[in-house]
Amino acid sequence: MTSIINNNLPIGFFDSGVGGLSVLARFKKVLPAENIIYFGDTIHLPYGNKSREELISYAGNIINFLSEKGVKAVIIACNTSSAQAYDYIKDNYNFPIYPIIQCCAKQVAESGINRVGIFATEATVKSKKYSSELLKYNPNIQVKEMASKNWVGIVERTDENLDENIKNIKNEIREMLDFHPDKIILGCTHYPYLMDEFIKYAPKEIFVDPAEIFVEYIKQDLKNKGLISDNKSDKSREQFYVSANPKEFVRNAKIFYDIDSLPELV
Ligand code: DGL
Repeated sequence: MTSIINNNLPIGFFDSGVGGLSVLARFKKVLPAENIIYFGDTIHLPYGNKSREELISYAGNIINFLSEKGVKAVIIACNTSSAQAYDYIKDNYNFPIYPIIQCCAKQVAESGINRVGIFATEATVKSKKYSSELLKYNPNIQVKEMASKNWVGIVERTDENLDENIKNIKNEIREMLDFHPDKIILGCTHYPYLMDEFIKYAPKEIFVDPAEIFVEYIKQDLKNKGLISDNKSDKSREQFYVSANPKEFVRNAKIFYDIDSLPELV
């Protein structure tokens, strides 16, 4: 258990799989000196079809694991867990926990947009967390949340109807465009992996990967709390853990992260 928090401890990240690496990659750009511990909960993939109770239990177990490794903060690099589990576990720890949806909502809501589309997992859409968080900061914003069809399975290559579901992305983007959104938020950390598909059907500028806003928020908050590492070099220690399929994790990570040794299976 992390008993005394100090700025030179590592930061924990978690997601159901490789999705959170799209956040980690951005994080390393703004805070390259931070040591990190990443947990991919691949045995429970996908999170999007799990119940709230299951998601609370996964999040609690992973944060306990990271806490035992001695982290100074945990980044929930997963929209589904932020939407369904964060509220229930947030007060259980003596270090900061950063949920992606809640940390980005203010900036998105106040960015001058009126109509926002959200693609997310079924569990995230069911929670209506994006809508409620955005409406908190901008009561006039119009939000359309859409659960996408197995995009996580495409990225993790667990999808049995891969070709059909890749083809279907076109219809899903078109349906969203019918809402005339000013911006479309990629409300699942796996979705930036599919950007090359998305931009076949809509201009790149319309898509928002909230990871960029998220890491800036975390950087500022760590600064305010005196938790930025003293390490001045741009080399840092990285440890990866998965709950299943380490080889597949490394293979699927490639677009965002080159992991040179196999993650430890726990
Ligand atoms: N990448 C996660 C998210 O941001 C979870 C996706 C899943 O496993 O369904 O929601």
